[in-house]
Amino acid sequence: MTTTDPTAVPSCDFTVVGATGDLALRKLVPALYHREVEGQLAEHTRVIGVSRTAHSDESYRAVVRTALAEHVSDADAAAVERLVDRVHYLALDAAKPDDWHQLHGLLKENADPEAVRVFYLAVAPAMFGPICERLDQAGCVAPTSRVVMEKPIGTDLASAHAVNDAVGAVFEEHQIFRIDHYLGKESVQNLLVTRFANTFLEPLWNSRWVDHVQITVSETLGVGGRGDYYDTSGALRDMVQNHLLQLLCLVAMEPPTYVNGESVRDEKLKVLQALKPMSPDDVDRDTVRGRYGQGLVDGAAVPSYTEDLGRPGSSTETYVAIRAEVQNWRWAGVPFYLRTGKRMDRKLSEIVVVFKEPPHAMFPHHEGVQTPNRLHIQVQPDEGMRLHMTAKEPGPGGFRFKPVSLDLSYASVFNDRMPDAYERLLMDVIRGIPTLFMRRDEVEAAWTWIEPILQRWAVTPERPKRYPAGTSGPTAAAMLLERDGRTWQESD
Ligand code: BG6
Repeated sequence: MTTTDPTAVPSCDFTVVGATGDLALRKLVPALYHREVEGQLAEHTRVIGVSRTAHSDESYRAVVRTALAEHVSDADAAAVERLVDRVHYLALDAAKPDDWHQLHGLLKENADPEAVRVFYLAVAPAMFGPICERLDQAGCVAPTSRVVMEKPIGTDLASAHAVNDAVGAVFEEHQIFRIDHYLGKESVQNLLVTRFANTFLEPLWNSRWVDHVQITVSETLGVGGRGDYYDTSGALRDMVQNHLLQLLCLVAMEPPTYVNGESVRDEKLKVLQALKPMSPDDVDRDTVRGRYGQGLVDGAAVPSYTEDLGRPGSSTETYVAIRAEVQNWRWAGVPFYLRTGKRMDRKLSEIVVVFKEPPHAMFPHHEGVQTPNRLHIQVQPDEGMRLHMTAKEPGPGGFRFKPVSLDLSYASVFNDRMPDAYERLLMDVIRGIPTLFMRRDEVEAAWTWIEPILQRWAVTPERPKRYPAGTSGPTAAAMLLERDGRTWQESD
């Protein structure tokens, strides 16, 4: 069985603006390589690297080879050369409109006049609008062209509007692909299939049977070389506004009529719009922000966030926990607890749906603990699902309860390599399939919910609570659940 999509995609000029940056070399180039190996890149497909750095085609091709050697294990030499043969490079300055005519000249040279033009903006968000304007002025944009933007789309609602307006002045909404790479993860797409291609969960998937939902995205990495960006962002903007809210949407949304761009995104939008708005008191009570101090991660001593950054005065959070509510018929009264942090004890992205206790205690004299049923959906690593149940331990001696689990490990069922999120997303861009991308109204609805939290945090003197690196976060996050008589589910 294969986990890759063999569907052919049209030929394409895949222009990466920011071609010498980390995203391009660590994620996009390897993703294109894997699609090359699968034979998914059509005959006249070219990869055009654009950035300010001076390179010839040949010297940039060497950069691509080095990136593949670094980021792809056991790369196939022939496939590397097939991809490299498609690579071209232009040194362009976004500030110089005339430079961009060179790109137009190169695009016109494609042997397939119908080749789709993709412009992937792997640059700072402040450049999205100006680069779109340059592309337009230079005549590069055709009706079948598409533009791809990475998050963050803005830093608040007003700036997100401004970015969307600027890009929207050149590209129609159906040509704009806003990437949230979590939506390209196999296990995240499987959430849709688990919920909607099976029937047994649906009757239970509501406030009558679900006690609460937990969504955790924890990382062991610190901010590394991204301190300048991260310190102006923080965990709320960097992770919650996009990845965690998207996961929440997929858990909470109603069944879409079809799996197509509009149906799925309409349903996700309704969830975002149903999130209970936070008053200042709600923010004080239902959010926790933390920041890692020195500690041990994977046995190695690591510095604190401010030491990593070299800015002792920073008040940026590297950890957030939030108690959210989706105010609709299905989820009324069911808390959704979200948490994410850097420099935690482990790398784990997981959704846990905790079901209610049985309504009647039938086994008053049993031995052992009866815990509520829980469905753990592990997004990464070790993608899979576990349903925790209670079973009777075999043998005489009354009812002895034993927690057991039904385990589905993707690795044991599907033997293939798990494709990286970008592989699927890049091919969807070329094919013009928007389902796994964020629509403008979704991005703006997410900011609308986040903004009161940002505003409240900005005026409260309290600083983020310290947690030692290599732990599961500040104690205040544990108290957020204890207050409700619950605890975070820590997977074994
Ligand atoms: C990015 C964030 O969007 O997602 C990073 O900007 C974070 O800070 C990364 O490390 C996490 O992605 P993944 O796929 O490793 O969980």
